[in-house]
Amino acid sequence: MERKIEKLISEMTLDEKLGQLTQEVTNVSSIDKLSKLAEQGMLGSCLLTDTPWAGSVTMEGISVSYLNKIQRAAVEKSRLGIPVMYGCDIIHGSKTIFPIPLAQAATWDYDLIRDAASVMSEEASYDSIHWTFAPMLDICCDPRWGRIIETPGEDPLIGQMFAKASVEGIQGKDMSEKGKLAACAKHYIGYGASSGGRDKDGTEWSDYSLRNRALPAFKAAIDENVATVMSAFNEISGQPATSSKYHLTDLLKGELGFDGFVVSDFDAVKRLTCQGVSDNDETSAVLAINAGVDMDMADGLYKNNLKSAVEKGLVSMSVIDEAVRRVLRIKFRMGLFDNPYADENVSPEEYMKKEYLEKAKQVSMHAMVLLQNNGVLPLAKGTKVSVKGPMAEEKPALLGSWHAEGQADDVVSLGEGIQKINGEENTFVHPCTQEDMYCNDDFSNVYIVAVGESEKVTGEGCTISNIELSGRQVDCIRAAKELGKKVVAVIFAGRPLAITSIVPYCDAILWAWHGGTMCGEAAAEIIFGDFNPSGKLPVTIPRSTGQIPICYNHQRNEYVKAWYSTHHRYVSKDSLSTPLFEFGFGLSYSDYQYSNFEYRFNSACQQAEISFDVTNSGDHEGYEIAQCYICDIVASMSRPVKELKAFEKIHLKKGETKKVTLTLSKDDLSFYDGRGNFVFEEGEFRIEIGKSSSNICFETTEYISFES
Ligand code: NOJ
Repeated sequence: MERKIEKLISEMTLDEKLGQLTQEVTNVSSIDKLSKLAEQGMLGSCLLTDTPWAGSVTMEGISVSYLNKIQRAAVEKSRLGIPVMYGCDIIHGSKTIFPIPLAQAATWDYDLIRDAASVMSEEASYDSIHWTFAPMLDICCDPRWGRIIETPGEDPLIGQMFAKASVEGIQGKDMSEKGKLAACAKHYIGYGASSGGRDKDGTEWSDYSLRNRALPAFKAAIDENVATVMSAFNEISGQPATSSKYHLTDLLKGELGFDGFVVSDFDAVKRLTCQGVSDNDETSAVLAINAGVDMDMADGLYKNNLKSAVEKGLVSMSVIDEAVRRVLRIKFRMGLFDNPYADENVSPEEYMKKEYLEKAKQVSMHAMVLLQNNGVLPLAKGTKVSVKGPMAEEKPALLGSWHAEGQADDVVSLGEGIQKINGEENTFVHPCTQEDMYCNDDFSNVYIVAVGESEKVTGEGCTISNIELSGRQVDCIRAAKELGKKVVAVIFAGRPLAITSIVPYCDAILWAWHGGTMCGEAAAEIIFGDFNPSGKLPVTIPRSTGQIPICYNHQRNEYVKAWYSTHHRYVSKDSLSTPLFEFGFGLSYSDYQYSNFEYRFNSACQQAEISFDVTNSGDHEGYEIAQCYICDIVASMSRPVKELKAFEKIHLKKGETKKVTLTLSKDDLSFYDGRGNFVFEEGEFRIEIGKSSSNICFETTEYISFES
């Protein structure tokens, strides 16, 4: 393959090379323009939209035959026959919509995340999509940022699992197989830490934080052979990610050994002028290509400026060739040269197949997090219930942002889901309006109240300054309680919302996220006990907006904590330092008992091992997620107060006990020291086993060293 690539490069003109490095936008009337470019061998890739939100708008008019026509021009009419690569944002489903990525992370389940990615790729491939801009791997502790929905949350280990599972699901073991796509790890890097949660604002992260928090997920994607990486919009400590040679070339391609290609974000090369590191398009293009951005998305700056830049000696031909080499390498790996066309006769039955919908329901059920339950749940089937609240019949929000070709009409709302599971005769669906909010409907003593947020306030460009539930929704829940009803709140949200004000009025709270096509039915199965909830929060839920940013794995700060608890008289210490619901938290209908803890250092494998038994002592079978946290007690750098380093999701029948062994390798106990070195420092580590980041069942402090 590499020989074929070199041969092609040796035959290409500079215009053809720059064409390969360009991604053009596409709309229903661009067929002539794109076919002409393809024929001239100057069309590397098409973004299947003419907006910056390729997976949020439907590709109206851009049919498979339309795309095959352009492809034919490239493959059959151009001089060298290099195929075009079609890219789009397929983020959490193509037509069958799965829960948003943040919700998928709440499953803590590699196989489910992989399977969801696999289904979405399969469906997207029917639409001639070759390349999805997923997974998004930004680590985020700021729920004001609307794009938190696309992230795996706040934790590097969950980020790594999400990265690997998604890339495996999207690309398979071999991307050239039918139904597989090229994946894109994005947004490299630091985008999830933009100041104030403001989308596209700068990131003030030291190399220390960046490497320890943001890098692991990208590294995991690269280890899984992710085909492409997208450079981020933001700047990092003053340098835009899109012009950062250090991050793109030295770190990503050099140190991490990434051999695919880097694509810029939409117009990000052009935006370098807005970020003040360039004052014209040519300089922007030169900065980006020299930094290591191989393909330019949408703004056309490479094709319009790099020819003269090469002639002026601002960019060397070897830099251009290296970028082309990377793009062609991925096209070969995808099998595009052998199979450039999509089938124009895929039957509509291939979409939203029964097994896809079943998988979407499974993922949605596993993602839901039971936050509160005084015993009211599960409800017995046949219980008379009223489904109330502004989101009782909601559909579009359940799809979430970035829902590609997903249709609201296909969504099962909460009301419909409950009617299906509990019987229509037992279920009165009546969304609250202002007038009837306080009225007693006399139908039932159990109100299932659906609240949350619209998908329109989540996703790209949606930063909000207040994450509290809006006033009328709180009223709605309080009113139900004041009527003497049992209140089960179901929350449909794309981000952590500070729901502190509803907690006292709820008998149970089920966090259902924006859970996709099958969300309403999944929630109903949990409410009526067909499925025992097992989701655990991949992100902290704060008490109030003012606590942001907040994450469980913050730097050591015992002094600050002590100061606030003893000296700060006006704010209760709880409201400052503890979240409403902590990372890793989630209830079950069962009780899981942990016992027989044993720590040992396995010299043969050079790993620390903690074994213990988990017993299901409740009367429902279910899944428990056992979590292992560490703290490096004294290190050369201040280390986080705790860090998740291992976990296992275990299925337990009623009364069943299983032995679990969690292991810690040298890498698990190492960290980046702020000077780019990944170091292990021998010494004492606190190791905790728990049901969440604060519900700890076992703790030990061990002196750990490894043979070199
Ligand atoms: C801008 C977004 O930041 C990025 O995530 C997406 O892939 C591109 N638009 C293309 O839609």
